[in-house]
Amino acid sequence: MLGQFTFYNPTRLHFGRDALQALAGELANVGPVVQFIYGKGSVKKTGLYDQVIAILNAAGKTIVEDPGVMPNPTYAKVKEGCAIARDNQVDFLLAVGGGSVCDYAKAVAAGTYCPEDPWQKYYERDEAVDHRVLPIGCILTMVGTGSEMNGGSVITNHDVDLKVGHVFEAALYPKFAILNPEWTYTLPTYQMVAGFYDIMCHILEQYLSGTDDSTSDYLAEGLMRSLVQSTFVAVKEPTNYEARSNIMWTSTWALNTLIAQGKSTDWMVHMIGHAVGTFTDATHGMTLAAVSMAYYKTILQAGLPRFKRFAIAVWGVDPTGKSDEAIALEGLEALRQWMNAIGLVMNLRDLGVTPDMIPAITKATFILDGGYKTLTPDDITAILHASL
Ligand code: NZQ
Ligand code: ZN
Repeated sequence: MLGQFTFYNPTRLHFGRDALQALAGELANVGPVVQFIYGKGSVKKTGLYDQVIAILNAAGKTIVEDPGVMPNPTYAKVKEGCAIARDNQVDFLLAVGGGSVCDYAKAVAAGTYCPEDPWQKYYERDEAVDHRVLPIGCILTMVGTGSEMNGGSVITNHDVDLKVGHVFEAALYPKFAILNPEWTYTLPTYQMVAGFYDIMCHILEQYLSGTDDSTSDYLAEGLMRSLVQSTFVAVKEPTNYEARSNIMWTSTWALNTLIAQGKSTDWMVHMIGHAVGTFTDATHGMTLAAVSMAYYKTILQAGLPRFKRFAIAVWGVDPTGKSDEAIALEGLEALRQWMNAIGLVMNLRDLGVTPDMIPAITKATFILDGGYKTLTPDDITAILHASL
């Protein structure tokens, strides 16, 4: 562990079957006008909407509804949300839904009193907050992004054909997050397994980088082993509480910054996946699944010792008598088989990508240099073609 860091996570997290009971206490700490943010309607179908409204009413809050947040939330919608918050002098943003709703809430929280264009300040120039922001809270119904306990906010701007993630500082982390694994039972299988892969990919983005002996990497291996075990159970038995609760908790720890401490990180699968999402609006976890194998094969030689360790530590590959490359490839094959078994989309065509779209997707991909190999635009084009 060679890095120097400060670790601080300000989100208070309530977890379990009765976690919603914590909401009333949390609301006692916030102002009287609450913007109740949710998605396209799942919260109404599950009954969570009614429960939250009842708790808000009992707490004497004025409720300002902000419904209709779409998966892969757009900047156009963020501007609407900021206007709602300003016009109603909102004190607090309550996000009820998945990562999209939570990410959107952070963008509105930062954008409402931003003296300039928030897209340019945060998503283009990646600047820090230096003005009033609104506090947010999160009630999580979809597992995968880790948005409930981090500062990440990923917004798609169709005016400029970009999907960009900004990592806000502590002031924009949810003040509290409420997680009941039972809420995730109603997720359609497609969304559920996409979230499972999002978790795996978050861990790998942080694990497949660096060469020192880091506690963060041992933590990552434990999280991956738990995830594989629990996802095999959950796809067969979606209402298995033990499996779903382990997955929900793993998801939070996969991206609440803990396992990135003291080390470099990669994030290129996400950069390519976000660019695919810009042009297809495909489900985030599936965009990652579709390009992962081609990406990992591209960087395997450069990161051979870590891929070998991954094979042995996570997948139990027996190294006896095998070359490092053979061990590493066996690990990747085990990853691929798990991805197939849980039902992920493993190619870009099924997400609506056609060969003529590849130049634009390549252009929209941000190239980072924290991984084992810094890609060129030609490498990205080749990965996209190999993923078709
Ligand atoms: O809109 P509703 O009707 O609520 O339906 C949603 C949506 O269609 C549905 N859903 C959520 N909870 C449900 C449910 N359906 C039935 N029962 C439930 N309990 O699921 C669909 C997907 O929801 P969404 O919030 O879009 O999914 P997810 O949590 O995967 O969030 C994806 C967004 O997060 C970003 C992604 O890029 C994408 O824009 N990310 C955010 C990150 C962060 N904040 O750190 C990191 C990630 O890597 C990711 O980029
Ligand atoms: Zn992700």
